[in-house]
Amino acid sequence: MLVPNMLDAAKRGKTEVKYIYENRDYKNNSSDRKYFIRTYGCQMNVHDSEEISGILESLGYTKTENYEESDFIILNTCAIRENVHDKVFGFLGRCKHLKKKNPNLLLAICGCMAQEEVVVKEIKEKYPFIDIVFGTHNINELPNMLENYYGKQKIKVYSIEGNVIEFNNHYKRDSNITAWVNIMYGCDKFCTYCIVPYTRGKQRSRKMEDIIKEIEELVHKGYNEITLLGQNVNAYGKDLKEKISFSHLLEKVSQTKIPRIRFVTSHPWDFTDEMIDVIANNPNIMPYIHLPVQSGSNKILKKMNRNYSKEEYLILFNKIKEKIKNVSITTDIIVGFPEEEEEDFLETLEVVKYCKFDGAFTFIFSPRAGTPAFKMKNTITKEEATNRLHRLNKEVNKYSKESNLKLINTVEKVLVLGTSEKNKSKVYGYTENMKLVNIEAKKDVIGKIIDVKITDAKSFSLDGEIKD
Ligand code: SAH
Ligand code: SF4
Ligand code: F3S
Repeated sequence: MLVPNMLDAAKRGKTEVKYIYENRDYKNNSSDRKYFIRTYGCQMNVHDSEEISGILESLGYTKTENYEESDFIILNTCAIRENVHDKVFGFLGRCKHLKKKNPNLLLAICGCMAQEEVVVKEIKEKYPFIDIVFGTHNINELPNMLENYYGKQKIKVYSIEGNVIEFNNHYKRDSNITAWVNIMYGCDKFCTYCIVPYTRGKQRSRKMEDIIKEIEELVHKGYNEITLLGQNVNAYGKDLKEKISFSHLLEKVSQTKIPRIRFVTSHPWDFTDEMIDVIANNPNIMPYIHLPVQSGSNKILKKMNRNYSKEEYLILFNKIKEKIKNVSITTDIIVGFPEEEEEDFLETLEVVKYCKFDGAFTFIFSPRAGTPAFKMKNTITKEEATNRLHRLNKEVNKYSKESNLKLINTVEKVLVLGTSEKNKSKVYGYTENMKLVNIEAKKDVIGKIIDVKITDAKSFSLDGEIKD
């Protein structure tokens, strides 16, 4: 369990968690210190890591990609499914011996796992060599924590719900071409399987002026793309005194001169007709929508507390396809949710066949302590769930490839982001509707939006060449 009556506490917007850590005697010599940060989880965490990096660099730390030579190792963790837990503790086990070589080495855990009381208890009992733990609400306290860490023997790290960082210019962004912009924190939806409302707290939207100001600065710095971030971007504004909708915000963002606007993630429940019109009518809002369906069975959708039926999802899906030119739609699907029968799963497959999604992230249900689904009777064996996942992935990949094949010989506008990982003679970028393209081209196109002729298609990427 996270905290007693966690559901109530989270709904009230309060998390009464206090983390107290014993520290050892370290010298404060941060000027030559190197930090290494590893990030698990969603874009929210990726962006939080940019904030942590910015803070550390402002304190004089420099970044290293080699954890063995670092003085401060930070693991920014994810709690959405069980599997990250083992990866994090496996990695920390490997870090333990480094402390013998470098007695000044600090180890920190932050992110969503740090919000789980059960994990904190485990750290206290089994991993005394972990020096610092801080939650998702404590990032801006990092300088304070480090200062106290060196000066005193003990440090308190606590989690306060409801604090919104209005405007932060500490970020050390990973890219100077495309940038993440938080528009809200937390989530109020309480899907029964999901831990996010507990690890990230209640929905708190940032003020529209702050968001626009941040984007204008990015435009000024020469960024070509921004992605608006939130667990439910299209619920934006519902918690603000002044009622502002996501479509209104989108319209305002589109009036800045940023060439490309993206946003993740949209919840079907909050997807309005007005939003569809704003996307359709503003060419700098990209025609790409991530619209998680989770299941095709109404029985399961109800148990998940998703608040829409299969039929409502399909009506929305069709409306989006009809109104937004060349739109691509991707989704998330969970298999093996408690009491998912074969017939429920077949309904999910039917939805996939009908929608022919451009891509889908597929998961086996992972029970998370403290969420309502954790207590639901789970009758599905691991083998059954794995088998469903394989069958689902087969369909998903088929349609993903089909949608890519359709693009062969078309000319697409691609924002080039960097050198291709696999083939250093190529560059890579994304089409307007978020298809990854590897391009035979010189490096001087990096950062630019160029016309690319698509020459080949695979399941997860395209090949292309610069159009003369
Ligand atoms: N806020 C987004 C995404 C949240 S997490 C949304 O509402 O759609 C990303 C995805 O992880 C979810 O869409 C869901 O498919 C999956 N997920 C969340 N909790 C899970 C769990 N307990 N087990 C398996 N998959 C889960
Ligand atoms: Fe989790 Fe549901 Fe909120 Fe998405 S909408 S973050 S799945 S509770
Ligand atoms: Fe994971 Fe937290 Fe994101 S649980 S998916 S890192 S909000």
